[in-house]
Amino acid sequence: MRQKIVIANIKMNLSVPENSVLFEKYKKEIASERTEVVVCPSYLDIYSAEGIFKGTKIKVGSQDIFYEEEGRYTGEISPDQLKGFAEYSIVGHSERRSNFGETDKIVAKKAAAAARHGIVPIICVGENLHEKMDGLTKLVVTGQTEASLSELTAKEVAESVIAYEPIWAIGTGHTCDPGTANEVVRNIRNLIKVLFGEKTAEKVHIIYGGSIDEKNIKGFAKEKEIDGYLVGTASLNHTAFAKIVDTVDKGSVGKITRKVSKPKSKTKTKKKTTKKKK
Ligand code: 13P
Repeated sequence: MRQKIVIANIKMNLSVPENSVLFEKYKKEIASERTEVVVCPSYLDIYSAEGIFKGTKIKVGSQDIFYEEEGRYTGEISPDQLKGFAEYSIVGHSERRSNFGETDKIVAKKAAAAARHGIVPIICVGENLHEKMDGLTKLVVTGQTEASLSELTAKEVAESVIAYEPIWAIGTGHTCDPGTANEVVRNIRNLIKVLFGEKTAEKVHIIYGGSIDEKNIKGFAKEKEIDGYLVGTASLNHTAFAKIVDTVDKGSVGKITRKVSKPKSKTKTKKKTTKKKK
């Protein structure tokens, strides 16, 4: 039985103090027994979020990650820098793919970099409205999934989260029909089975995102294939987000089985520089 997971993607919303207020409310109001709850604030808020949620079951994630470890990459944040603060990282969100030209190849590198540093990649895939209208959902999602996972081992895929986020449903108030989302998730799992084997397919978490709120979550929570939700707009409202978590939590059964391996390869440790005594 896979553990359910609910992820808040705060996106580029709220100021630093506003985020702190929101997270303090999350801390008080979110009471999940079985469901893994992850909060992905902007880079600016990751450090304080980690402090706020310390000692709680709520985990912190980043909204993106870079694939290099260090160097001349102005504006980027490396897996090495995020390690210890973020346990998850969203990669390949459609807003990054469309606004920042992220290709499947880049997404694959980011997913692999995260996984190799013990950060769980949340790999986003999904079709746009034209592709949906043309009946291309399966083709698009299959292609994106296969390419975005291309640099991961079967074990790393098993420990990853794949988020089906139809672009036309993001921030529009129009969700995918829960049955259809369930079907797409099933197709993704079947693809993982073909590419990485049955055990990997059984373990990997496949979730849905796109206009999930505290009302429509009830319809989704009944669907068997969907392992959780990536929530944007509704995560900005602590009451709504706590209700979403609660609904998912009440519907989830079984033991918590989520485990993430520690990274094998040790990352470089910098030489200590000692100041010369005058
Ligand atoms: P909304 O919940 O606002 O549709 O956003 C979904 C999303 O993009 C989460 O990553």
